[in-house]
Amino acid sequence: MGERGLKKLTVIGAGSVGTSVAYAALIRGSANEIALYDVNAAKVDAEVLDLAHGTQFTGSTRVIGGSDLAVTDGSDVIVITAGAKQRPGQTRLELAATNAGILSALMPELVTRSPQAVHVLVTNPCDVLTVIARRISGLPPERVFASGTVLDTSRLRLLLAGRAGVSLSSVHAHIVGEHGDSEFPLWSAAAIGPVPTLHEKSVVRPEYSKRGKVLISEAALSQMVIHCVDEYNQNIRIKKILVKDDEIGYRLVITIDVPYGIQLGGNIHNLQQYIIENIEHYTGILIEEVNIIIDKGGLS
Ligand SMILES: NC(=O)c1ccc[n+]([C@@H]2O[C@H](COP(=O)([O-])OP(=O)(O)OC[C@H]3O[C@@H](n4cnc5c(N)ncnc54)[C@H](O)[C@@H]3O)[C@@H](O)[C@H]2O)c1
Repeated sequence: MGERGLKKLTVIGAGSVGTSVAYAALIRGSANEIALYDVNAAKVDAEVLDLAHGTQFTGSTRVIGGSDLAVTDGSDVIVITAGAKQRPGQTRLELAATNAGILSALMPELVTRSPQAVHVLVTNPCDVLTVIARRISGLPPERVFASGTVLDTSRLRLLLAGRAGVSLSSVHAHIVGEHGDSEFPLWSAAAIGPVPTLHEKSVVRPEYSKRGKVLISEAALSQMVIHCVDEYNQNIRIKKILVKDDEIGYRLVITIDVPYGIQLGGNIHNLQQYIIENIEHYTGILIEEVNIIIDKGGLS
């Protein structure tokens, strides 16, 4: 048994990602046997030999592979990296048709050959392909999942660690959503040690367009508004935030709910000023106008 009790790991696709996964698993002792499969026989055979030649230094893992799917038989975990990769300017979603075709051909055969295996999709768009793989195979979600935003989260943490000048292990932050252009960072939950990054002005450094306007996503701006309002008075609940982005600057329309009998701890004007000053403090972004609507209709 490998360190994690895993007997056979198969990697589908012997390209840059597949061989890196196989190598990482090999040096970590993740499995007793690692199989590498690719349609390109010459490439996979060469990669298998390279990996096998290094096993003197990595422990007792056996490395096998080839261009015959029989090498995958009896796998416990199958990591799928086979397929086309993004060309410059191409989105991950544009890869979907090509890679869905490859996956549709592979999946039934993989399931027949390894009926107990857990499948991990890395080929892009990995979250979309995961849904397709589940439909084709009929396997439950816990048996087919993607690497998702784990790489993006790791990239974000590295950038934050570099920006703040701290060890990567002290950064707690997540990118969530689909591993693609709609994913986003959870700034309100990001922290360095116990300190929320929204408290650290230098961490969230704005980018400027050619015309000098600060560029920030609506989601990130909304997270900051929520954070500011929460700091101002924790009894105020936000119902809706509308970000108006009109080339000059940002205007916010914030609908809030203040429970009956709770004092705002000042007045609406103070809250408007608090939001403007704090967002500028945290990010350097000047909000042109904040319009606050109090809605007593209850939370939707
Ligand atoms: N999810 C993530 O975080 C993440 C990160 C990096 C790359 N990727 C994706 O992983 C995939 C692989 O990237 P790469 O850089 O290794 O590409 P690559 O071109 O280096 O390797 C792809 C390999 O797949 C093989 N292949 C193609 N069709 C096949 C089939 N039907 N059966 C078996 N093998 C087949 C090719 O022969 C090639 O060796 C891409 O889709 C890429 O976008 C995902």
